[in-house]
Amino acid sequence: MQLPQENQPNIAGQNQAMRNYYQFQSKIYDLTRWSFLFGRKTVIRKLPVDTLAPVHIVEIGCGTGYNLARMARRFPAAWFTAYDVSADMIRLARKNTAAYQDRIKLIEAPFSAEEAELCAPADIVLFSYSLTMINPQWSTLISLAVALLKPGGHLAVVDFHASAHPWFKKHMGKNHVRMDAHLLPVLASQLLPVVKSVKKAYGGIWEYLIFIGKKSGTSVLSDDE
Ligand SMILES: C[S@@+](CC[C@H](N)C(=O)[O-])C[C@H]1O[C@@H](n2cnc3c(N)ncnc32)[C@H](O)[C@@H]1O
Repeated sequence: MQLPQENQPNIAGQNQAMRNYYQFQSKIYDLTRWSFLFGRKTVIRKLPVDTLAPVHIVEIGCGTGYNLARMARRFPAAWFTAYDVSADMIRLARKNTAAYQDRIKLIEAPFSAEEAELCAPADIVLFSYSLTMINPQWSTLISLAVALLKPGGHLAVVDFHASAHPWFKKHMGKNHVRMDAHLLPVLASQLLPVVKSVKKAYGGIWEYLIFIGKKSGTSVLSDDE
């Protein structure tokens, strides 16, 4: 169904807002984000694939390549496709993942239906602290990610969940982050949950989520293999 023109999300405006935001934030990203983007190491540790398997892993909103470098070390036979809308972030990702450049394809572009078709199929798709910033198309991107997974593949998400403190939600809103507990119900409705947890940060100022869900359908491997 086509939305009336006035109700169409301003996707170009949203993508430009991201580019503008990360023009400065990219300079301090790796120095600061360890202190509040919790759960990134955990979600990688919990990815349900053999560490030696030659799997295709896609990261949407890869930022400076923090997860890519970690995943490339953990999964030495895996190959990666990673998207980011910000040229400044992709530039840093290129530098931070230079040691694995033969296995990592970095694409400076907003993730889209066309890109999903080009890079399919994937064994794993990861969104790490990107979905809460992709407003209002976050649910479309979840559907695209599910579509590009192989049957039996997994979608992994680590992100902000919610905050009971209006001042904090307002502060995060100014930084383009939506914290309305809106991701989990949609993720759980499209995938079979394998990992689903909500944890408190800084004694409960906010909560973050870790979700890993399996795409239903016949697995490409039989149970015996
Ligand atoms: C908070 S950063 C997370 C970076 C990285 N995944 C991490 O965990 O450190 C969010 C990233 O999503 C990117 N992003 C936002 N909208 C996007 C879109 N539509 N397509 C691809 N990347 C996008 C931003 O440019 C930014 O680099």
